[in-house]
Amino acid sequence: MRRGSSVEAAYNRRMKANVAHLAHRSLRYFESGGGRPVLLLHAFPLSADQWLPQLHRVPVGFRFVAPDLRGFRGMGAAFEDPGLGSLSIDDYAQDALALAAHLDLDRFVVCGLSMGGYIAFALHRLAPGRIAGLILSNTRAGADSAEGRAGRERMIELARQEGPEAIAREMVPRLLGETTRREQPDLADAVRRLILVNSTDGIVSALGALKARPDSTPGLGAIDCPALIITGSEDAIISLAEAETMQRGIRNASLVVLPKVGHLSNLEAPVGWSKAVDAALTRMI
Ligand code: MLT
Repeated sequence: MRRGSSVEAAYNRRMKANVAHLAHRSLRYFESGGGRPVLLLHAFPLSADQWLPQLHRVPVGFRFVAPDLRGFRGMGAAFEDPGLGSLSIDDYAQDALALAAHLDLDRFVVCGLSMGGYIAFALHRLAPGRIAGLILSNTRAGADSAEGRAGRERMIELARQEGPEAIAREMVPRLLGETTRREQPDLADAVRRLILVNSTDGIVSALGALKARPDSTPGLGAIDCPALIITGSEDAIISLAEAETMQRGIRNASLVVLPKVGHLSNLEAPVGWSKAVDAALTRMI
């Protein structure tokens, strides 16, 4: 059975982006709903557009805010991103804190998918008192292995030589689960387009930050806010064992495994993903 692409449908229902002029940079973000804030942090190498299906169905009483991470979906000369080339995961987290200050968000839930989850751990390290809950989707606490770091180097080289096109070619088949690739071919095209609007510099910079990110496993025991961990049974990038490690390490964490779903679970199964998140949000903040 072939299902329609959720991101394509979400694109067709347009959503106006906002621009925040922060002290060190300007960034694009989406905002939807009203009430208790939830910061949505996207995966590598996508953009805030990844969250369009969720931005169109915000649960009552919540306000979703989804920024572009630095270097992604750049908006031209007026919005050049500073510091590309030497960014760390903490820099992305500091950007999120600066946006939170700009929007007067005191305490908020952080929802990060994959790279967004790595940043969520950094945010909890930097400002634990501000985090009301964590939604850790298709992510891991661990750092890159030696093999993983060598893989990042190969991707950096590939991006430098052939640009975002080659990164999309390499990553799209791994980002989406086997069932999704078979049943939602339009979603593969939509994800490819999300990648292609990004710049080589933004992609290379993020790969450097991913490669050097610290191991968040020792800090899991210090997380005392409620957490929801989501993964997909066909996630080819992050294993179920890694999701279980997070669940065991965080004292107040539940785990949802979405069947027949890969790494980009919020796009592949937006209904199931939102059902799990909506239920968890009621016990956060
Ligand atoms: C992501 O989806 O953000 C990346 O696949 C994360 C990673 O490569 O570690």
